[in-house]
Amino acid sequence: AFQPQIFKGLAGVPVDYTAISKVNPETNSLLYRGYPVQELAASVTFEEVAYLLWHGELPDDAQLAQFEELERSHRGLDHEVKRIVDELPLTAHPMDVVRTAVSVIGASDPTTPDDSREANLEKAIRLFAKLPSIVTYDQRRRHELEFVEPRADLGYSANFLWQAFGEAPELEVVNAFDVSMILYAEHSFNASTFTARVITSTLSDLYSAVVGAIGALKGPLHGGANEAVMHTFDEIGLGDGSAERAVTWLDAALAEKRKIMGFGHRVYKNGDSRVPTMRDALERMAEHYGRPDVLEVYTALEQAMGERKNIKPNLDYPAGPAYHLMGWDTETFTPLFVASRVTGWTAHIMEQNAANALIRPLSVYNGPDERHVPPRGKAT
Ligand code: CMC
Repeated sequence: AFQPQIFKGLAGVPVDYTAISKVNPETNSLLYRGYPVQELAASVTFEEVAYLLWHGELPDDAQLAQFEELERSHRGLDHEVKRIVDELPLTAHPMDVVRTAVSVIGASDPTTPDDSREANLEKAIRLFAKLPSIVTYDQRRRHELEFVEPRADLGYSANFLWQAFGEAPELEVVNAFDVSMILYAEHSFNASTFTARVITSTLSDLYSAVVGAIGALKGPLHGGANEAVMHTFDEIGLGDGSAERAVTWLDAALAEKRKIMGFGHRVYKNGDSRVPTMRDALERMAEHYGRPDVLEVYTALEQAMGERKNIKPNLDYPAGPAYHLMGWDTETFTPLFVASRVTGWTAHIMEQNAANALIRPLSVYNGPDERHVPPRGKAT
């Protein structure tokens, strides 16, 4: 009999070409449009990376100035979006709020059905510009604080921190945050990007694809891991003696067969290429805020996980505690990932549209054989 091969979780299955990024687990490298992500993090801003992902090339000075002006002009939030967010209960997870806000923006945009590259690029830039307002509006309302209006004199990351905390952020913090945004921006056919491409493949609109992608990112096996890492740090308990507690905690967690959040990766088996860069940023934050205990837990858990399971950390592992040190609420960590990854998602939406094929795999049925409904009087 025919024995179809099942590729559970689509593991190891190439489903299409992409020119946006290249993940190479053998050389432990990640390239955005050909550029190593570490080089981008060290030498350009997140705005330049967004431009690169959408256009395929880094902007020259004039292109960057024009792009920045456009981005800064779209940072505000409509009253309607704020009103609907205000109606959502505080029990709603911030990811549900971001998902809803993007949906509202899509429903209010008269250009939603236009899937030309030009129209989609405009929508992408507007979402990119507005996400910091959405994320900070929600975080602040949870603390009963007023919305902080965006500032057009600040770059993307500096403004994001300004809107979150209402204070001019320090340059070191802006830099570490910008590095995290660059590292989170794009990662080929991960679950949320693939979700966006599946939705786009039906010729649905960009907003629907982004809303679906946000839903996929929320789960702890994907973007939700950066929040989950912080819960681990909280369970261990930061402060004196935390390194020893980390090892005890890990042994107990492994004995209970728990998955250790922020470790392991579907594609990288010898370590995530983005981790060293984000770990450096975390180290700078630990020094900046005078919190060696955070780095001690980080190192102790990483080392013990290496010894016990030979599993290495992924990007969420250093990103979670770095966001914590910057002052973000733990539940806001994954929305920060959304604000960054929206660049990659929308680049993929445009790429999918440009060479579309409906994504519709097969399943192998293993339910009951054909059978028939027993005769019983049907109500008419
Ligand atoms: N903790 C404990 N054991 C693990 C972990 C982990 N974090 N990751 C993998 N393993 C074990 C797993 O139990 C399995 O063991 P066995 O063969 O004995 O059953 C083996 O390693 C292979 O793991 P898998 O789950 O089959 O591998 P996968 O490719 O399906 O999973 C993963 C990849 C990311 C879902 C998984 O490593 C995981 O659940 N990690 C924790 C969640 C996490 O950090 N996610 C973030 C992913 S990367 C960045 C992002 O997308 O945000």
